[in-house]
Amino acid sequence: MPETITKVLVTGGAGYIGSHVVKLLGNRGYQVATLDNLFTGFRDAVKFGEFYQADLLDKDSLRAVIAKEQPAAVIHFAALSVVPDSVARPLVYYRNNVLGTVNLLEVLQEFGVNNFIFSSSASVYGISDKIPVAEDSRLAPINPYGHTKAMMEQVMADLARVTAFKYIALRYFNVAGADPQGELGERKPTATHLVTLATRAAAGRIPRLEVYGTDYPTPDGTCLRDYIHVSDLAEAHLAALEYLLGGGESDVFNVGYGRGYSVLEVVETVRQVTGQDFMVVRTGRRPGDPPALVADVAKSRALLNFPLRHDNLEIIVRTAWEWEQKLSVET
Ligand SMILES: NC(=O)c1ccc[n+]([C@@H]2O[C@H](COP(=O)([O-])OP(=O)(O)OC[C@H]3O[C@@H](n4cnc5c(N)ncnc54)[C@H](O)[C@@H]3O)[C@@H](O)[C@H]2O)c1
Repeated sequence: MPETITKVLVTGGAGYIGSHVVKLLGNRGYQVATLDNLFTGFRDAVKFGEFYQADLLDKDSLRAVIAKEQPAAVIHFAALSVVPDSVARPLVYYRNNVLGTVNLLEVLQEFGVNNFIFSSSASVYGISDKIPVAEDSRLAPINPYGHTKAMMEQVMADLARVTAFKYIALRYFNVAGADPQGELGERKPTATHLVTLATRAAAGRIPRLEVYGTDYPTPDGTCLRDYIHVSDLAEAHLAALEYLLGGGESDVFNVGYGRGYSVLEVVETVRQVTGQDFMVVRTGRRPGDPPALVADVAKSRALLNFPLRHDNLEIIVRTAWEWEQKLSVET
């Protein structure tokens, strides 16, 4: 808990991850405000503080929010994040994610707001041949979405070099699970993440689950990914915020658990936890899917040291399943 009340603006706070962070900040005594255009977010997911429906592409409305809130820090989630969509519509992604973030940074510069936490992604690594992959590995995104994240990391590094601006970029691995109190979770109809899709298949909301590629050089032939529970990821943001506000330097951190599960291990866990069988269709590899993507977490453990309360695939799946059942009742 901060000694004096710190005001934090969260962009994209009505979305999946942002809404968990808004809730955590509110519960920990921060004053929080959310800015979101509700493109993929939901107003009722914002559990604390002021809400502003505003768009990153509209600088005047950004100015109005920053002038009113005068935050000590900004946590910036707002982005488009569906990889195949970014391949199909690259200009939409560069405009929203890159231009939108540059707009935000320009307005923050105007108002002297210098503490910034950025949602980056493991997609900046592209197809890494190192497992686990560390922060100093070469960045080689393989789709426009990943490029938008790598570009923004470069923009922030360049800005920090010549101004008082400080940032932490958190490179998330595969975010999954839902609020253990059942208030929040993934709601986007366009979600493409495995745990969400598998629990939707178990709930009968989608007819089948597709597994892309069963001939990878992994123990069971399917891709290995590092799944992190969204509530632990939220704690990473709080730790990053306190690190910056406590005088820490700009930096980049992987956020995962440092362990990989295969697609089939996740499917099996979803079947066990839900008690539901569902159709699994094994199809060919998707272009650009690395066989394994697992975080080297040594740096974030050493410097951010946030609590890992849900580091367990069954807990991840159980919370996602409870959320999915709640959605099935409500819709
Ligand atoms: N979910 C993951 O596994 C994952 C992994 C790596 C990185 N990320 C990054 O984390 C962030 C949050 O992801 P999420 O899964 O919660 O997505 P989400 O779509 O649920 O949340 C994004 C939010 O940003 C808002 N938004 C988008 N463009 C905006 C704009 N121009 N102006 C104002 N608001 C806008 C949306 O309405 C939404 O509420 C994104 O930056 C994403 O790229 C997510």
